[in-house]
Amino acid sequence: MYEATEHLPESCVLVIFGASGDLTARKIVPALFNLTAEGRLPHRFHIVGYSRSDFPTDSFRKHMRVSLETHSRITPGEHPDALERLLENTIYCRGDYSSTSDLTALRKTLESLDKPSGSPQNRLFYFAVPPETAADLVSRLQESKLLERRAPEDAEKKGFHRVVMEKPFGHDLDSARALNAGLLKGLEENQIYRIDHYLGKETVQNIMVLRFANSIFEPVWNNRYVQNVHITVAESDGVGNRAKYFDSAGALRDVMQNHVLQLLALFAMEPPTGMNAASVRSEKAKLLGALSPLSDEELRCAVIRGQYSAGNVGGKKAVAYRSEKGIAPDSRTETFAAIRAYINNWRWSGVPFYLSTGKRLVRKLTEVAIEFKKVPHNLFAPYGSEDPAPNMLKIQVQPEERIALRIASKSPGLKMNLSAVDMELPYSSRFSSQSPEAYERLILDAIAGDPSLFASSEEIRLAWKYVMPIIEYWKNQPDPAFPNYQAGSWGPIEGKNFFREDVCYAELGKG
Ligand SMILES: NC(=O)c1ccc[n+]([C@@H]2O[C@H](COP(=O)([O-])OP(=O)(O)OC[C@H]3O[C@@H](n4cnc5c(N)ncnc54)[C@H](OP(=O)(O)O)[C@@H]3O)[C@@H](O)[C@H]2O)c1
Repeated sequence: MYEATEHLPESCVLVIFGASGDLTARKIVPALFNLTAEGRLPHRFHIVGYSRSDFPTDSFRKHMRVSLETHSRITPGEHPDALERLLENTIYCRGDYSSTSDLTALRKTLESLDKPSGSPQNRLFYFAVPPETAADLVSRLQESKLLERRAPEDAEKKGFHRVVMEKPFGHDLDSARALNAGLLKGLEENQIYRIDHYLGKETVQNIMVLRFANSIFEPVWNNRYVQNVHITVAESDGVGNRAKYFDSAGALRDVMQNHVLQLLALFAMEPPTGMNAASVRSEKAKLLGALSPLSDEELRCAVIRGQYSAGNVGGKKAVAYRSEKGIAPDSRTETFAAIRAYINNWRWSGVPFYLSTGKRLVRKLTEVAIEFKKVPHNLFAPYGSEDPAPNMLKIQVQPEERIALRIASKSPGLKMNLSAVDMELPYSSRFSSQSPEAYERLILDAIAGDPSLFASSEEIRLAWKYVMPIIEYWKNQPDPAFPNYQAGSWGPIEGKNFFREDVCYAELGKG
């Protein structure tokens, strides 16, 4: 993991397939504008939007302007030069994804952009299209000589050809393997950048800094001191305009298999030998490979699924999942999933990791909360003090980036009363510069050729391997008693007992 701007090529063309879509408008274009405004992109940088929708280049630029006004971190009006530069360097090509003649026309466009500079052809192909089209698109791009298999040493001479892919990386273990085999038919593994946008978030990267740049945490990062760990990815939103996809996936596939397990891997992996992609990804893969396979008993008792009924979220009425637009009235899809996971290694043996994710919960919250073991003896009991609350370290990723350490402290006064107090580090008030959006970091890393913050095929395989028994178990069970939690709650009631085994639910701010 290096400072991307130091390794940027002189020139690069970014081709966005699916340029008419939601991801392009909400995430990719704003990230590119913010990078332009902060002067972080290569000296010569062109964007080519490609999709089947009919946009003359001017209309596409207008479409970009509109999406920037709504979605950009940096206000476009405050950086008019950057906005004009970005738009001037953007062209749009209408075309079909499987038409050789359309893709040949695209190749000629790219060659005309490469020619004046005479520099190597650095091309980044962003697949912002439905994942089922990806393997076929790789073949078509190769047939049209747009994309070549290039080993790193060839890339240095001729320029790089890289593909950025979006999740989902498969629907299950078999389809993930098939997708990967399809991609690797035409590409080297080092040409594929699989985005898990959580890994681009500042606080997620900060988990590594916290662990490996401070001497006080690593000694207690193990089963001698840690009582349990909660990794929570809670959303207050429903399915929005992703109903069709979400109903075929569910919370386990949509969030647990990727974001939650990636957070777990970063939190619990062994120290890598260096902050380079090979070392970091290898340690994450080892950790995912050490997850204790869920026994039949655990599948029954240590895994929870739920689906929301109508309720109230943030003061607004929310309909039941089965009444959402685009969802079948008898849908069995889970909108909440929780797992009590264990890791079979020396460091973590016996420590429960409570992994949970759900939609339409009380509020948006992504957090890793580590509860440490209680002190062995309460010295203050004879003075009427209750047992001190255990220390807790919380790393919040969303909605705010912050770190909080809970310690026991003496309450002011003549009596020896103890209180738990939080020492807080909210990023927004401590650091004056704004955090870049995850997509800014990740696009820049893909241009610079640093895959540290992208998931490897091995990590994806191991994450699917871990969740597959749950998918199979649920498939073979009778219809679940859905809905089983109210929109605006913290999930199914059985979750409360499940989590309370080690730590009071309310302690985590979820009561
Ligand atoms: N949106 C998000 O926030 C988000 C978050 C995480 C991951 N993703 C992933 O990012 C990718 C793009 O997401 P998106 O939300 O932008 O998707 P989208 O709006 O449904 O699709 C993007 C574009 O893909 C093109 N397309 C090509 N083949 C298609 C097909 N068979 N069916 C439908 N459209 C097709 C369409 O453009 P033309 O018809 O004009 O060619 C469409 O505008 C997907 O893999 C998605 O899973 C998205």
